[in-house]
Amino acid sequence: MKTIDELLAEGVTGKRVFVRADLNVPLSGTTITDDGRIRAVQPTVEKLAAAGARVIVASHLGRPKGAPDPAFSLAPAAARLGELIGADVAFATDTVGESARTTVAALTDGKVAVIENLRFNPGETSKDDAERGAFADQLAELADVYVGDGFGAVHRKHASVFDLPARLPHAAGDLIATEVGVLKKLTEDVARPYAVVLGGSKVSDKLGVIDHLLERADRILIGGGMAYTFLKAQGHEVGSSLLQEDQIPAVLEYLKRAEERGVEFVLPVDVVVSEQFPDLKTKAPSRHTTVPADAIPAGVMGLDNGPETNKLYASKLADAVTVFWNGPMGVFEHPDYAEGTRAVAQALVDSEGFSVVGGGDSAAAVRILGFDENAFGHISTGGGASLEYLEGKTLPGLAALED
Ligand code: 3PG
Repeated sequence: MKTIDELLAEGVTGKRVFVRADLNVPLSGTTITDDGRIRAVQPTVEKLAAAGARVIVASHLGRPKGAPDPAFSLAPAAARLGELIGADVAFATDTVGESARTTVAALTDGKVAVIENLRFNPGETSKDDAERGAFADQLAELADVYVGDGFGAVHRKHASVFDLPARLPHAAGDLIATEVGVLKKLTEDVARPYAVVLGGSKVSDKLGVIDHLLERADRILIGGGMAYTFLKAQGHEVGSSLLQEDQIPAVLEYLKRAEERGVEFVLPVDVVVSEQFPDLKTKAPSRHTTVPADAIPAGVMGLDNGPETNKLYASKLADAVTVFWNGPMGVFEHPDYAEGTRAVAQALVDSEGFSVVGGGDSAAAVRILGFDENAFGHISTGGGASLEYLEGKTLPGLAALED
């Protein structure tokens, strides 16, 4: 993989450099609630601009349906990038149309533009190679060189991630280089004890990584909505909590394999429950109580780890030398259900081991809960991407940068 410094050494002055970033930031209306992903690509953009490149930054945001949708415009992200780099950032209101062409043509050396959400074009995510290729051809006309730096999207076989680098001279940006360097530490000769904390709503999203980690981790701590499928598999009632009944056989198999291999599988011992899902917009206080995880009453749903679980998880993380964490422990966006996530983040801050926070949600959670990013070993910008890397899968966006 060519590095950005090698690319700069070849000279980029006056060249149009297409930077595929991941500016998929959480928004509340047009307000960015966590700009971590924009800050993560900032060094690459600044390096290229300082070297005299004409920088075209492109990304997806959310999951629009292949057509323009103002709710998913990248305009707020472009404005924030301008604030961060302290320079005007031009914005094209389409991806490969008139606006993109004129915006790019107007760029002078060292200037930066953002083009509109790539997923406003159906070719970006198409499963059809020809349709994706046709969109990549149009994107290629905008630029002379490609820099892949959207780590959060490298697991997607999308036009701008996979097909476009095949059409242009290409290099990996600094963010991708850092992310891959860190994830290598978790897959090659990992320092032990190696503890993994997995949360989030669906077990089905984590099957591959659990399967892989059962061969590598010493401890696996489960939280979030997916914990209820594990509790149910152990024979406990879970009320109206999130449940993936169809995953119970897979979960039972994992619990059995963990026992055979001596991997410690840790599940919540108490949970915070409520009759209703809280209002995340108003964040109005909601009625809730804590119950033992093996005695969840009918009609209530688990929304966070309880205080005994928080202590237990902190003790399981205290002596870990390597920790990977993906997925919040509860509905952290609401103050009544943020303690489980906060407790895991605090345990990582307190631990002397090397901690990696992987994932859009957990990364946003630590910042939204007010933790200092520098207190963690590494906060990844990739959720699905870091999980798929840990699973050992070939990631299209990394493979495309290889040659
Ligand atoms: C993410 O948020 O994990 C990345 O931006 C990828 O987004 P996607 O899951 O919509 O492809």
